[in-house]
Amino acid sequence: MTDISSILQGGYQHPVSRAWQSKRQLTKSMLMYPIFISDDPDAEEVMTTLPGQRRWGVNKLENFIGPLVKKGLASVILFGVPMKVQKDPRGTLADDPEGPVILAVKKLRELFPSLFIACDVCLCEYTSHGHCGILHDDGTINTPPSVARIAEVAVNYAKAGAHCVAPSDMMDGRIKAIKQGLIDAGLGNKCTLMSYSAKFASSLYGPFRDAVLSAPSFGDRKCYQLPPTAKGLARRAIQRDTAEGADIIMVKPALPYLDIISDAAQVAADHPIACYQVSGEFAMVHAGARAGVYDLRTMAFETVESMIRAGATIILTYFTPDFLDWLDQ
Ligand code: PBG
Ligand code: ZN
Repeated sequence: MTDISSILQGGYQHPVSRAWQSKRQLTKSMLMYPIFISDDPDAEEVMTTLPGQRRWGVNKLENFIGPLVKKGLASVILFGVPMKVQKDPRGTLADDPEGPVILAVKKLRELFPSLFIACDVCLCEYTSHGHCGILHDDGTINTPPSVARIAEVAVNYAKAGAHCVAPSDMMDGRIKAIKQGLIDAGLGNKCTLMSYSAKFASSLYGPFRDAVLSAPSFGDRKCYQLPPTAKGLARRAIQRDTAEGADIIMVKPALPYLDIISDAAQVAADHPIACYQVSGEFAMVHAGARAGVYDLRTMAFETVESMIRAGATIILTYFTPDFLDWLDQ
């Protein structure tokens, strides 16, 4: 005879009762769409390593983003791609008032008043050496000027109208410096600070670095991005960033780091938790589908729902336009 308590299938035999098994379900407002802004205002350049994604010029944003907003797009995060102009060691172009990010923020604010606009803050797209901070002569990170410069860029994005600034550089102390900078500029209560807190030195950033031309010209990022094995260090980084004034904590990449997302949900229990399904994860899901390993849509849902199960409430993903359609079907 079967024991009554051994029978679980009665609880999930219908699509509706299956949906009830999740603590939280994916909704459109959880999605933040990463977009690449070129300094060529008319660009709509296809990128082969990121299926379906393009580098967009500011003049193209209305036709690109408009239909997505109509479908329920709630937020975007902007990455600048300076293709034409000369880079320097301090990343002067990052907050060029005529540069792609600042122009795009102003344009999007004007076109789509309801859209939440975040800006990634980093120097690697703009430095001649391709590292995320300012360097000593021996090529190591010089922390104080790096932090000062990152904070300056973040405040300039906020002044341009960004609803959120999101530093991805991993310099120690930048959250505190940015928060103070925002407060000093009178923007403390007008701009959200989302920290890439637990950002790992991953092999999954390749397509992104091709997309924004930000691969380091020498060395790697292992002295500032976290070692993939570092669970304790990730928890300490999350604790530190909440103490320094972060409003949102992010884990990146997402799928190989679900335990870290779960830790973040515990360590920063009173903060929203974001995770970034990065370029290499997106490319991997596509590659597997192309190879016949699984159905693209089913796998995209499975990956993102695992992140939500682990504790994420905000998902940065290149699948956002697809999910806006899929969630309507
Ligand atoms: C820049 C930055 C990177 C990503 C976001 N911001 C790349 C890196 O650190 O090398 C990765 C995003 C992706 O792979 O989709 N600091
Ligand atoms: Zn960087």
